Amino acid sequence: MIPVLPFDELPDGTARCVDVAGRQVALVRIGTTVHAVDDQCSHAKVSLSDGDVWPDACTIECPRHGSAFSLTDGSPDTLPATRPIAVHRVDIIDGMINVEVAE
Ligand code: FES
Repeated sequence: MIPVLPFDELPDGTARCVDVAGRQVALVRIGTTVHAVDDQCSHAKVSLSDGDVWPDACTIECPRHGSAFSLTDGSPDTLPATRPIAVHRVDIIDGMINVEVAE
């Protein structure tokens, strides 16, 4: 696990891109839960952390073409994206968000 950001610095309902061991990861906070997924859309080189977070659906929407990716399993809900993005493990330890990058 790698400490990446204090929990308090990620406002509820927002996403932020962080570098985790050379990989760009989008942290997404929904309430007291933080999700971590690959920041790059699986359709093209677009940063998902620039897109909208949909707390009720637990998804983040690509700002370019609108595919929304599940924050729990990485799958896109609509075309044009067809491939999932990687989902990473998150632990909040002493107020710090820690991420373990998936293989
Ligand atoms: S670049 Fe993300 S859906 Fe097309």
